[in-house]
Amino acid sequence: MTTGSDLLELSPVLPVVVLDDAEHAVPVARALLAGGIRAVELTLRTPVALEAIRRVAAEVPDVVVGAGTVTSPAQARQAAGAGAAFLVTPGVTDAVLGAAFDSGLPFLPGVATVSEAMRLAERRLDALKFFPAEASGGVDALRSIAGPLPGLRFCPTGGITVESAPRYLALANVGCVGGSWLTPKDVLTARDFGRVEALAKEAAALGPPGR
Ligand code: 3PG
Repeated sequence: MTTGSDLLELSPVLPVVVLDDAEHAVPVARALLAGGIRAVELTLRTPVALEAIRRVAAEVPDVVVGAGTVTSPAQARQAAGAGAAFLVTPGVTDAVLGAAFDSGLPFLPGVATVSEAMRLAERRLDALKFFPAEASGGVDALRSIAGPLPGLRFCPTGGITVESAPRYLALANVGCVGGSWLTPKDVLTARDFGRVEALAKEAAALGPPGR
């Protein structure tokens, strides 16, 4: 995997995971993989996130683990140091963009407007996160963006569910969708990793077989 574009092909659904306990990291990654999902975005929103990335990178090599919610250059560097294979940012600043390029990792920068997308296209970034997807116009917005910007592809994230995901995945400019619905907080607290696997299986079935 070498480019942001490749990230869009890993899985029809990129699970966005918030972990409160580093002990959950490996079982969650294994459950996702057992369900047919081979990529995971661990968000840097909790103190255990970097440790969770380290553990998944070391112990579940068949899952491509990335860092999400990267909002500072320091976080980009820390995530790369922890073994993240990719970075995802909810939005973009010059500093975060610079650090993401410097990391050498593929990354999905977040945009919510046409102007933001055009600025990133100028930097030869053609795979973007569309965030917050539902609040920013959802499927209709992405369909409209495809007209003037046909070279860009997106991973919409934010408010997407297993029910709404197929409408996004049907768009030519959507490679995958992101979502936290595969790892609900109460399910993780209960350590119900069987439930995570079942939700992953349902999500994997949204894409072509074997992807
Ligand atoms: C993200 O950071 O990508 C979003 O918080 C995920 O959005 P969701 O929780 O609505 O799926």
